[in-house]
This record gives sequence, structure tokens and C-alpha cells, in this order.
Amino acid sequence: MLVQFLEVGMNYDAQYEVKALKYKELKGLSAKQLSFHHDIHYKGYVTRRNFVHEKLKTADKAGVNANYSEFRELKKEETFNAAGQLLHELYFDILGGDGKFSEDMEIIKKIKDDFGSFDAFKEDLTTTAKASRGWAVLCIDPTDNKLRNFLLDGHDNGGVLGAIPILALDVYEHAYYVDYGADKASYLTPFLNNLDWNIINQRFSKFKSVYA
Ligand SMILES: [Fe+2]
Repeated sequence: MLVQFLEVGMNYDAQYEVKALKYKELKGLSAKQLSFHHDIHYKGYVTRRNFVHEKLKTADKAGVNANYSEFRELKKEETFNAAGQLLHELYFDILGGDGKFSEDMEIIKKIKDDFGSFDAFKEDLTTTAKASRGWAVLCIDPTDNKLRNFLLDGHDNGGVLGAIPILALDVYEHAYYVDYGADKASYLTPFLNNLDWNIINQRFSKFKSVYA
């Protein structure tokens, strides 16, 4: 698909496309909040990732160094935007439900095994979110195959290589400021109440055996 990048004056075949939002609004998350988040922030990561990939084709490799070089800066932004794309696609995908789950779901059993109880998991996730500047992400930890909530201060800051993200909670200010201002804590409840545990369970079932 030919995508026009008017802001940078380039036309080229974009490698990645913006995924549509499955819902317009959610309980406790307004259409305005979600459209800003999806249509500006998430879209920006995808389009800039495409832009960076295009620029890398012709970037100067002769003068590359680790202090400053065009190639280095592009590679850094490639990581930032790729991680931003992946995390936001997970975030938007696992919302749209009613927050309810059944006790026989594999993900719920695993959460209880690894955290002791669902409430203990929820407390750990929300506490991690309050402590984070960017993300709290429930992952399968490759070290011991256990579920763990990792704290990422940015898309590209705090991720553990090999960890498989199962549930991503965005706590960048852009995720809640339209609806909640500086009250980050009040955003966490509607996030939990809109989770689609069927999708989260399917994702866990798909990846649970990678490190088993
Ligand atoms: Fe975000």
C-alpha cells in the first residue's frame, strides 16, 4: 500500500499499517481520550517506524560511531517506534471486554500459581503502574517461565529481551490525561474493568509453551 508522508515529503511502500480501533469508547475511557491515543500517538509510532526504515536504506554508514551518527540515531528511533507499535497494539487489543474471567482459564490458573492469588496479581500490576513512567507489562519471564509484571519507563526502556508480553498497561500521561488529568490512580480501575480476558487467555495459550 502506497502511503503518503506529507509531513516529510516522501512517498513509499509502507511496511507497517495502522490497525483500526475495535471500539470508539469504553466505560471510563472516552472517545476523545481513545482517539487521541490511537489516532495520534499509536499512529505516530507506526508511521515513524516506516519512515525510519526508509531512511535506513540510504543512511550514511561510512561515518558511523557510537557518539553521534545518522545511522545510530535512526537505529535508536527504530527500536523506540517498533516497541511503541508492538506495545500499543497489545494494549488496544486486550481492551473492549467487561473485565470478567472464568476460573478455568489457563491464564487465571497461571496467575494464581505465580502470584498467589488474582488479587495479589492485581495489586502488583497496579503498584507497578503507579511506579512507572511508561508501562506495566505482564510477561512470561524466560528465566523461569513464570509470569511477572515488568516496569518500562519508556517503550524502549526497561523491557527484558525474551520476555513475552501478555497484558500491557499504558501509563504514559497521554493514555489518561484527557479523562483523568493528573489522577493516574483513577485510570487504573477502568483499564481493569475493560480487559478482555478471552483475548488475554488466547494469547497466553499461544505462548505458554515457549519456555516450558
Ligand atoms: Fe500510549
